[in-house]
Amino acid sequence: MNGAPANLHIHDLRPPPADFRAAVIEGLGQRPRRLSPKFFYDAQGSALFDEITRLPEYYPTRTEIGILRRHAAEMAALVGRDTLLIELGSGSDVKVRLLLDALHPRAYLPIDISHEHLARSAGAIAADYPALAVHALCADYTRRFELPEAVSGFPRAAFFPGSSIGNFEPAQARRLLAAVGALLGRGGRMLIGVDLKKDPALLDAAYNDSRGVTARFNRNLLHRMRRELDAAVDPAGFHHHAFYNSVEGRIEMHLVAMRDQVIGVDGTRFPFAAGDGIHTENSYKFNVEEFGELARAAGFETLRVWQDEAELFSVHALAFDGA
Ligand code: AVI
Repeated sequence: MNGAPANLHIHDLRPPPADFRAAVIEGLGQRPRRLSPKFFYDAQGSALFDEITRLPEYYPTRTEIGILRRHAAEMAALVGRDTLLIELGSGSDVKVRLLLDALHPRAYLPIDISHEHLARSAGAIAADYPALAVHALCADYTRRFELPEAVSGFPRAAFFPGSSIGNFEPAQARRLLAAVGALLGRGGRMLIGVDLKKDPALLDAAYNDSRGVTARFNRNLLHRMRRELDAAVDPAGFHHHAFYNSVEGRIEMHLVAMRDQVIGVDGTRFPFAAGDGIHTENSYKFNVEEFGELARAAGFETLRVWQDEAELFSVHALAFDGA
């Protein structure tokens, strides 16, 4: 086929690169040094994340797909037909295809911060579902955004797969869920994927894969600083460190300096002694009740929870009843 499908509309609300520059300067100046995981997802980072989702050790993606495959019809019955289906962080399009087939929404609106990734996956869906209006929004979904006018009057439902909610601090997660609830309106339904607490050895393996893809994903932040900010940094001088923090109930990822060195951005020098780290990601794990409480605090009632047999992962159907 030539050109973009006629049912595909791309809305570019990308945050300016200044965002990344300001966040790096601020984050490296803090103690502990930190960077938000949202900056992982430039084109290279999104491609590496896709690779992670296919790794044998990274169980969340295939497990969530299994749950969706098995229960899509029941999920669709709870969410209802003819909605505007809003997907937060358009991940692997295998997941949403399972829902689209069961749900028959009126329109589909994936939101993602990575333009290339979003355009590719939304384009493929638009081509395969020619009767579906696809409005892809390139934006940071943690910020306020307006829905495109063409679909703003449709009843809304949300799909938030992949346990990305676990990458937010609990208070941020509650605020984000409440904001999604406000977007959906009273009675609006959401399907959300939530990774579960489990044997720490399985978690450790999932974030320290034997092929080193997660390490490259983590270090891509340093490559991105060089590419976009012209930063003076040697990515090979840092190693990937990921572990399960059982007190906080989260995987933590860090980039740790292997020797004394300096990162330079815009004339500001950020010195590192060997062993100093940058905290790049938390990935919170929940049990079903804990997540139900978080959803409740954000104004959602839990309608139903599905899990795989090994209880690795869960998908929750929620209804917003206003906080
Ligand atoms: C996107 N997010 C849910 C992934 C996670 O598991 O927290 C990101 C990731 N980080 C390392 N591997 C995958």
